[in-house]
Amino acid sequence: MLSLCTLLALATTTSALFNAFILQLSEDHEFHKQASHLSYSVRHEYRNPDVFFGLSIRGNITKAQLQEIPGVISVSSVYNVTLPAQNLHASTLSYNPELSVPRNGVLSSSLEMSSVDKLHQLGIKGKGIKIGVIDTGIDYRHPALGSGFGPGHKVAGGYSFVLDNGTLDSSPDPLATCYGGGHGTHVSGIIGMEPSTFDITGVAPESSIFMYRVFDCSGHAGSDTIMAAMIKAYEDGVDVVSMSLGIGPASFGDAVDPLATVTRMLTDHGIAVIVAQANDANGSSSTPELYTEEWPSTEPTAISVGAISNTHFPLVYSATDNFGTIKYASVYPLDFPNGADVYIIDQGCDPNAWSDALAAIGNVNETIVAFKATDGCPATSAGPANVPHIMALNSDTSNPYLSEYDTPSQGFFGTTQFINLNSLDGDTLQKNFAAVGGYSKYKLFFHDKDFTSVPQRSGGMVDYYSSFGPTWHQYDLKPQISAPGGHVLSTWPLGPLGGYAILSGTSMATPYLAGCYALVKSQFPAASISEIQARLQVNSIPVPWIFNKSMLSATVQQGAGLVNAYDAIFAETTIAPSQLKITDQNKTTYGLANITIENTSSKPKIYSFSHEGAGYMDYYMSHDEKNQVPLFGTAHFPSPTTIPPRSSATIQFSITPPQGVVPSALPVFGGFIKISDSNGQSFSVPYVGPPYSLFNTPYIFIQNTSDGILPEVYAYNADQSEVTYDLSLLDINATNGYGASIPTLQWTRAFRVDVLPANTNITANYYGFDAAIKLEYMPSKLSPNEKIFGFPSFGTAINSTGYVWPGGNSAFGSDDTVTRSNGSRYSVGNGDYRWFASVLRAGGSDSVQSDHDTWLGPVMRFNGQDI
Ligand SMILES: *[C@@H]1O[C@H](CO)[C@@H](O)[C@H](O)[C@H]1NC(C)=O
Ligand SMILES: *[C@@H]1O[C@H](CO)[C@@H](O)[C@H](O)[C@H]1NC(C)=O
Ligand SMILES: *[C@@H]1O[C@H](CO)[C@@H](O)[C@H](O)[C@H]1NC(C)=O
Ligand SMILES: *[C@@H]1O[C@H](CO)[C@@H](O)[C@H](O)[C@H]1NC(C)=O
Ligand SMILES: *[C@@H]1O[C@H](CO)[C@@H](O)[C@H](O)[C@H]1NC(C)=O
Ligand SMILES: *[C@@H]1O[C@H](CO)[C@@H](O)[C@H](O)[C@H]1NC(C)=O
Ligand SMILES: *[C@@H]1O[C@H](CO)[C@@H](O)[C@H](O)[C@H]1NC(C)=O
Ligand SMILES: *[C@@H]1O[C@H](CO)[C@@H](O)[C@H](O)[C@H]1NC(C)=O
Ligand SMILES: *[C@@H]1O[C@H](CO)[C@@H](O)[C@H](O)[C@H]1NC(C)=O
Ligand SMILES: *[C@@H]1O[C@H](CO)[C@@H](O)[C@H](O)[C@H]1NC(C)=O
Ligand SMILES: *[C@@H]1O[C@H](CO)[C@@H](O)[C@H](O)[C@H]1NC(C)=O
Repeated sequence: MLSLCTLLALATTTSALFNAFILQLSEDHEFHKQASHLSYSVRHEYRNPDVFFGLSIRGNITKAQLQEIPGVISVSSVYNVTLPAQNLHASTLSYNPELSVPRNGVLSSSLEMSSVDKLHQLGIKGKGIKIGVIDTGIDYRHPALGSGFGPGHKVAGGYSFVLDNGTLDSSPDPLATCYGGGHGTHVSGIIGMEPSTFDITGVAPESSIFMYRVFDCSGHAGSDTIMAAMIKAYEDGVDVVSMSLGIGPASFGDAVDPLATVTRMLTDHGIAVIVAQANDANGSSSTPELYTEEWPSTEPTAISVGAISNTHFPLVYSATDNFGTIKYASVYPLDFPNGADVYIIDQGCDPNAWSDALAAIGNVNETIVAFKATDGCPATSAGPANVPHIMALNSDTSNPYLSEYDTPSQGFFGTTQFINLNSLDGDTLQKNFAAVGGYSKYKLFFHDKDFTSVPQRSGGMVDYYSSFGPTWHQYDLKPQISAPGGHVLSTWPLGPLGGYAILSGTSMATPYLAGCYALVKSQFPAASISEIQARLQVNSIPVPWIFNKSMLSATVQQGAGLVNAYDAIFAETTIAPSQLKITDQNKTTYGLANITIENTSSKPKIYSFSHEGAGYMDYYMSHDEKNQVPLFGTAHFPSPTTIPPRSSATIQFSITPPQGVVPSALPVFGGFIKISDSNGQSFSVPYVGPPYSLFNTPYIFIQNTSDGILPEVYAYNADQSEVTYDLSLLDINATNGYGASIPTLQWTRAFRVDVLPANTNITANYYGFDAAIKLEYMPSKLSPNEKIFGFPSFGTAINSTGYVWPGGNSAFGSDDTVTRSNGSRYSVGNGDYRWFASVLRAGGSDSVQSDHDTWLGPVMRFNGQDI
């Protein structure tokens, strides 16, 4: 976690809400009558057959009881969705703007990053577009948010599904005034704020905001409530839904949730669903960065957004001491008419240091308590914070993300005002402090209320927390696009700490993109979601990787790159598809792709093609500078193509993966197809995929070295010593235990080990024995009545389906039973057998032997007592 972390978004854990369920029902159901024997209460009713028909209920009931009821189509858990702990007052705050008023300064950096400022100059501000926001509610009393609610206001509609304390509610009024409900006010400002205390504007200030309040003041919501809000947004006829939330880590299995259905139904009805990718990257050295996205961003029809750091930290003010200027980051300038004392704590995370400080300080109201924010002691864990002013001094660090200014959300430290110094000014302050004799001698003065926006080292690049894709197994690009989300100044509930906050997260990037979507939609009202998405994606600007700026960051980190709303509207070329998956076409061909280019201008244009690789990642790469490497594929394009006015052409090309790929590390590669026209405009289409043929790669790990033989079979003697075998036969007394270890190298949907007669005629890709050694078999007394690929089998020792993790797949037995395909088990008795492993390749069919990687083992001779 960043030392001065202000991340506000997204759940990192998913837990099912105790005994609450979403039921999908047939429209003629008589659920309440049929369920009269059960005790439950209704949480939400879903009555829109266009989107979802059913109920969510809670009670002393089980899934199984519900599944038995006629008319129940499906039963799913309700999840408890949580915004990260915000440590905020959940109380309602009164408006008390007794703060120093900031002056001057230019706050346009986040709009300039995506050329939104140019659109505003042309009067393109999202007029006529309705944006639904599913969040914590909104403080629409805010002057920057129109000071009102309802038709004709900026916040034109919405609904509230919860009270401050989380009790379910049904009210047309989504007002939330608690700081704990500030998230929704912040994301709404990013969409639509008008200049007020600060001269800063949202992305689409003429669009209408519809706020659906689902999170309470402590940041909790049921996933069934989010679903109710999506359906309400549909009924209100919004054009786009912005969801700065994540329910939990994307599943590698086959889990489906009703939210998936609802997302698809909304997009089927022309409502774009824009979802935060999540803030779960940069875990630790042992956790992968790939696949850190949360659902529902993973839904195929949702548009998932990553976060790019603001080019500038918005608000930096100047204080003075006897020696000169000390700059500090703060939302508001501090106000000490007679100057402030500074007390420096050495260990900001040592509670004793704070109590010592409080004891030593004369007048705490005239003192700023400073501490060094380090990796080990981030600002958010410093405390106790019961002092009115805290100053965090950034420690020196080579990590570009950790050296940035940061401020937690207003209210994070109660009513404490928090300011932050960069390491340069922090060092100067500590030097000057020591020079005059320390506490009570050193004074800081705060006369200047002007601010500047200061360039950031991470500016314009993907922020460290922004989760990586792609989707599990399918390799669909997630995130699909990125938008400014790091260090974004926007509105915050009115209260004693002022109505603004600077926050970071994919939560902030999501409403930004929803605003861009609205800008494009306002100019192309008839365009479909995928047409608008394509305009946004192909006109985005790919960004470099912060730890090596001479390469582009992985497409699974940045999607199409930083959105450019101006070009998305004015480009005279459209391109589809706007994101590609590079993988197997079929069992023999890999890496082909097509792109269709339409010249929408009135002049012929020549289009030429090039390729730029982006960061390569694998499942074992971890955080920060270790998360990607420069390993790029190559592309093979046709020669430049002339496209007549208002015509289109399809180009076919292929991508060859880089050299040096290790498929067993489960890598993902990517890059951009660049299309340049003779007018000097250029476009890019991101791609992602496995840099190897998923079908043709080995699935079984074969090793025959001094480290040992794999797959291996083994058996034990009565004294637990291992039985040796001669690469042709293993003598087994089952009672003592025996088994096999058959490691796999890739995910598979079917891993099976069959027990075959030793004289089987089946062939395999690999053999675990020396065929030159001839044996006289000891036949089983039973006949094999099962089949594998048409060959007789006694049954299975392992039969794993669903998604089976790569790695050790072992079977261990202490009897001689096998499993029939009907699930029953029986003893095969003494005799000679072989184990046959079959691992299904991606895209293969269960019944086709050549769609599997296979291994046939040595003779397993059961020669113990009959059991
Ligand atoms: C990323 O995680 C590593 C290890 O947990 C940590 O050392 C580093 O400071 C983190 N980076 C940021 C920017 O928080
Ligand atoms: C829940 O239901 C079970 C039987 O369905 C019953 O035994 C149990 O007492 C109930 N618990 C509560 C708290 O009502
Ligand atoms: C959701 O989880 C949070 C903490 O994880 C808990 O405080 C809250 O009570 C839960 N909500 C419900 C309705 O169970
Ligand atoms: C939640 O707040 C409402 C309205 O203030 C109140 O009626 C209700 O009792 C509260 N519920 C809980 C569980 O505190
Ligand atoms: C500090 O300010 C608080 C809030 O204004 C006030 O209640 C308290 O009495 C002040 N303390 C001192 C020592 O002046
Ligand atoms: C940075 O990326 C470039 C490729 O764009 C590569 O040639 C260079 O080796 C990389 N530097 C490091 C330190 O990995
Ligand atoms: C695989 O696809 C390529 C390119 O579309 C085609 O030429 C080839 O015939 C296909 N092979 C099979 C086995 O379908
Ligand atoms: C590309 O387009 C050609 C011609 O329409 C088609 O035959 C081919 O299957 C397409 N290839 C891919 C990878 O979609
Ligand atoms: C192997 O094939 C031969 C020739 O078709 C057949 O006689 C024999 O029964 C087969 N063996 C087994 C174990 O199926
Ligand atoms: C393997 O398991 C799957 C699903 O559990 C089942 O459908 C299938 O019949 C089993 N196959 C065999 C050969 O036992
Ligand atoms: C198999 O092992 C068991 C105990 O470990 C022993 O009692 C039995 O005699 C063994 N059978 C043979 C045939 O060696």
